[in-house]
Amino acid sequence: MMKLGSIINGQERNEDSRETLAVTNPYTNEKVAELKLAVKKDLDDAVAASYETFHSVMKRMPAYERADILRKAADLLVEKAHDFAINISMEAGKPIKYCHSEVERSIQVLRFASELAKNINGETLPMDAAIGGEHRIGIVKREPLGVVGAITPFNFPLNLSLHKLAPALAAGNTVVFKPAEKTPVSAYMLVKLFQEAGLPDGIINLLIGTGDEVGSPLVTHNNVHKISFTGSLAVGKKIRETAGFKKVTLELGSNSPNIIFADADLEEAATQLVKGAFSFSGQVCISAQRIYVQKDIYKPFLNSYIEKTQALTIGDPSKDETDIGPMINEEEAKRAKQWIDDAVSKGAVIETGGKRIGPVLTPTIMTNVDKNMKIIAQEVFAPIVSIIPFETEEEVVNYSNDSIYGLQAGVFTNDINRALRVADRLEMGGVWINDISTYRQDNHPYGGVKQSGVGREGVKYAIEDMTEMKFIGIKIKEQS
Ligand code: SIN
Repeated sequence: MMKLGSIINGQERNEDSRETLAVTNPYTNEKVAELKLAVKKDLDDAVAASYETFHSVMKRMPAYERADILRKAADLLVEKAHDFAINISMEAGKPIKYCHSEVERSIQVLRFASELAKNINGETLPMDAAIGGEHRIGIVKREPLGVVGAITPFNFPLNLSLHKLAPALAAGNTVVFKPAEKTPVSAYMLVKLFQEAGLPDGIINLLIGTGDEVGSPLVTHNNVHKISFTGSLAVGKKIRETAGFKKVTLELGSNSPNIIFADADLEEAATQLVKGAFSFSGQVCISAQRIYVQKDIYKPFLNSYIEKTQALTIGDPSKDETDIGPMINEEEAKRAKQWIDDAVSKGAVIETGGKRIGPVLTPTIMTNVDKNMKIIAQEVFAPIVSIIPFETEEEVVNYSNDSIYGLQAGVFTNDINRALRVADRLEMGGVWINDISTYRQDNHPYGGVKQSGVGREGVKYAIEDMTEMKFIGIKIKEQS
């Protein structure tokens, strides 16, 4: 049994005297690891270590060395891909095929960061654009911020951690890393991987602890210069309120709409949207939650969609054939089932699914829904999708935008003019045409508008958000 502790300045803090929390496999309920929890003093030490190594080590480390460490970490992750995938499946209950693709994406994130570390460019300014600016040169440099607090979620415990750690290192920052308590083993393995790749001690300090004990004080700490958080809207709001003058990036929730016009490839849309709604039991921020289907094709789409959903394999997430495993825990499955029951009590219809077996919720398709039901208005974060008919472009744009969220959307049509018109009008951070809202590549800007968040990830864009501009002006002396 692994006894995991925080790692501060390269030293593990896993003494027996610490309070212990078990990490359990959500499907089998078997213990995966024992956590030795961090306390407030560890947080102070972690910030002090990050602050000190920022000034003594990271500020002096040339870009080619940072790039080299990131490239080595990518190579090591290729070697250890299998172990990382198995671990994600065990601690998160994620079907193994999705764990393999998460690890593949993580390798790419490290490679992007390695390449970008050498390309953090500034600019020169035409100072003579202003009256009196003659004989002056302006330089805009990008500098690292200092200490980045990375607070990461359970749903992509490796890749969403790397979306914070890799750009932070590429930009020359140090990190205090607080992963989700439900999935800390991936975080621990990742920090060990960076150590093996040659990252000096104290540059990433791992805190395995609770939000109350170490998360909240990390957000308010004066020697932390930025918080990058992925998680719930409620926690995101609290971070926004308490972070003070720090920069913040918040990747929060969504109830992503997907729109299918009558001229779209219906079968392709249905096939993709089954993945889009049910991958990792819908526990993905950009999961397809609302599917709007134009009236002419509503019935054939619904029939095809139900048939494809019923063909999904439900069961043990460690098996290659499994599409749907457990939710992160039984409480979450119960919460999601209550939302279904609540919608049904208000007139919604379950077309398929809606059954809970322990932590597993069967993939659920709802119709006859209303915009005030929780399964529409809030982020459902469960394998529940609603199919809603619409008539006109105008109407479906209004339905889609009628939300507190705006992260990603999908639009299916063969009419490029309509696709671009609708994409322009959707209040979203990103829109996919002829693909699902759930599709994400790791190099495009990713983040939301409205209450879906603040700032962008996607390695290049995260680096921008993890650096500060510094202006240096030079006045050239005239020849005497
Ligand atoms: C998320 O759940 O926010 C991340 C989705 C992804 O990276 O695919």
